[in-house]
Amino acid sequence: MASTLLKNIPAKDFIVPPQKRAVDFSADKRIPVIDLAAHNRADLAQQIIKSAKEFGVFQVRNHGVSEKVMEETMNLYKQVFNMGDEEKAMLYGEGSNKNCRIHAGGDYYLNAEYRSWREMLIQPVSPMDDESMQSKPWLEKPAGYREMVIAYTTEMKMLGLRILDLIGEALGMEAGYFERNNLTQTLNIVANHYPVCPDPSSTMGSAPHYDPNLITILHQQLFGLQIFNNGQWLGVEPLPHALTIMVSSQLQIISNDELKGCKHRVVTNSSAARVSIGTFIGPSLDAVVEPAAGAAPVFRPVQYNEFLQQYASNKTESDVVGFCKIQP
Ligand code: OGA
Ligand code: NI
Repeated sequence: MASTLLKNIPAKDFIVPPQKRAVDFSADKRIPVIDLAAHNRADLAQQIIKSAKEFGVFQVRNHGVSEKVMEETMNLYKQVFNMGDEEKAMLYGEGSNKNCRIHAGGDYYLNAEYRSWREMLIQPVSPMDDESMQSKPWLEKPAGYREMVIAYTTEMKMLGLRILDLIGEALGMEAGYFERNNLTQTLNIVANHYPVCPDPSSTMGSAPHYDPNLITILHQQLFGLQIFNNGQWLGVEPLPHALTIMVSSQLQIISNDELKGCKHRVVTNSSAARVSIGTFIGPSLDAVVEPAAGAAPVFRPVQYNEFLQQYASNKTESDVVGFCKIQP
């Protein structure tokens, strides 16, 4: 993808075909909100698994991640996206693999027919040992960026592992399965910026997609996220201090198709710029992902590296796990 500033991209590139546009911009109250402090463990595991099965997404509150860390990290990324054009231009990347660069106006991993109304910045934060931390492409500004992002990711990882534990328990998996099989080693922070858009009815902030990783924790303050459920797009309400958890593709494979990856997209809005921060927890590149022991496997084992290559070349927005399905 070219390193072009949003405002320089011809408007027609952003126009979504009429049949693929959003029509409803409201939040849907059916998407579950789970209070992580309010239940006993078995109840909690059941609520989580029920929500994951029904919607592929749920929100959590009383999740244990410090509100201060959340707010300060959000403010940092707002500062990054608000930098002056010249300073920001130094962060524009060529091609898809330049991490910690801003990718403007296009989904680098999607083959959508139109450009997304967004900028994104990928910050890899794994492995988290001291030595690897030194060599990462940290932003030099704003001040305190690196320390804050590490603190943020550390807290998000704890939350992610806790939720995965509960999911594993509810699915009857052995305790510690995800960690033992190197399924949670990759941590990427993806910050998205959706600028104010003059015409939300004909644009899309992010084209429909499934996340390729294991589980995604999304931090949002403004409306924009929609998930696909039973043939309908449902809006996820941006509840203050809550976090949105999405089932991603590897969890579909590991759960042997009991859980489905959550198909989602982001709509634009005409009143305020939206910044969201995704924490992507996923396998190490050489990990082999397969259904955890149980019923007859529906998927063959697949190395995460191979999965990502297939994912990047998938020309459709559906069935990203189809290539590793065992044919009956
Ligand atoms: C993503 C994504 C949703 C959002 O980064 O993969 O789907 O609300 N983000 O920004
Ligand atoms: Ni996503």
